[in-house]
Amino acid sequence: LKALILVGGFGTRLRPLTLTYPKPLVPFANKAIILHLVENLVKARPLPRTARVPRPEVMIAVLKQYEEKYGITITFSVENEPLGTAGPLALARDVLGKDDAPFFVLNSDVTCSYPFEELRDFHLAHGGEGTIMVTKVDEPSKYGVVLTVPGQSTIDRFVEKPKEYVGNRINAGIYIFNPSVLDRIEVKPTSIESEIFPAMANDRQLHSMDLEGFWMDIGQPKDYLTGTCLYLSHLTSKKSPELADPAKHDAVVSGNVLIHPTATVDPTAVIGPNVVVGPNCIVGKGVRLQRCVLLDGARIKDHAFVQSSIIGWSSSVGKWARVEGTTVLGDDVNIKDEIFCNGASVLPHKSVGTSILEPAIVM
Ligand code: GDD
Ligand code: MG
Repeated sequence: LKALILVGGFGTRLRPLTLTYPKPLVPFANKAIILHLVENLVKARPLPRTARVPRPEVMIAVLKQYEEKYGITITFSVENEPLGTAGPLALARDVLGKDDAPFFVLNSDVTCSYPFEELRDFHLAHGGEGTIMVTKVDEPSKYGVVLTVPGQSTIDRFVEKPKEYVGNRINAGIYIFNPSVLDRIEVKPTSIESEIFPAMANDRQLHSMDLEGFWMDIGQPKDYLTGTCLYLSHLTSKKSPELADPAKHDAVVSGNVLIHPTATVDPTAVIGPNVVVGPNCIVGKGVRLQRCVLLDGARIKDHAFVQSSIIGWSSSVGKWARVEGTTVLGDDVNIKDEIFCNGASVLPHKSVGTSILEPAIVM
């Protein structure tokens, strides 16, 4: 089995993190977002392929290491111009269409339990050309909405980002197709959601499978944090040994928490629930962390408080500082002592010496 991972756009909504790394390489629960996809695909045993990247060099260098580690072949199909979400399939036709086995196509910015095997079995059983995984959300206008023929899995209508409410079952960004879908797509900028899915639905060739369990598009800071909470509670329900065991930490750890083994946490810190402490992080005395993510090398100085925020690579938060309200610090940001940051988005290498009381971009 084969899989194509769609990588494109500029990850604008996940700035400032995406000013340093392309979105799929941004860590999620201490692992590059795309690595979650690759590891789950490996469990289902297809061969991952990837498409357009704004900075392919970094991406290729990182993904090349996974080839050997997981015993898979990764082909890079790099676009000269953005081909949208369907064009990349046509561009990779030689690989995807080389036999008649169905292949997966994945958006690279979602988290869920990735039930690839169930999806494949469901797809093979109904015999149609494609199957998309669907999930229910409260705010469907940000997504592609799926309407099925009553009582069937067959999709009747697909409406991308509807302005008016049509339904709440949405496209989860995980598909499986027979190679015949390639006959519907040309090598030119094409949206799979606005052009290909409606045509397939018209021909009654597109089916939906309901996703059990959690799902989140993690392409925006607020959703990235929500997705982190969902993923951590998924780890808890699986009784994952990765989670921090309060008995093994001197610091007060409660709720779902991941602490990388290379991180240094002071015994007087209070951590959780819903916290990810990345590799090489340093957490000082009396620090309070709640519902937040610290990326590689972040440093939280004594008595600082961090809540509902993402602290970028090698950034530091000063003593007695308070960081909250979906603040996102880019790479190597310095928040000075006693500063208050509420909803700040701080670009890489900046130093913040005055408090930010309302959401703002610091550049
Ligand atoms: N190769 C390539 N080329 N990939 C692209 C391009 C492009 O020109 N444009 C976007 N992508 C990739 C993105 O990197 C992402 O993995 C995927 O295609 C979807 O793009 P997003 O920009 O994240 O779309 P969205 O979140 O607004 O909506 C999509 O995802 C929703 C679920 O999260 C749609 O598929 C919706 O229907 C869906 O509900
Ligand atoms: Mg998205």
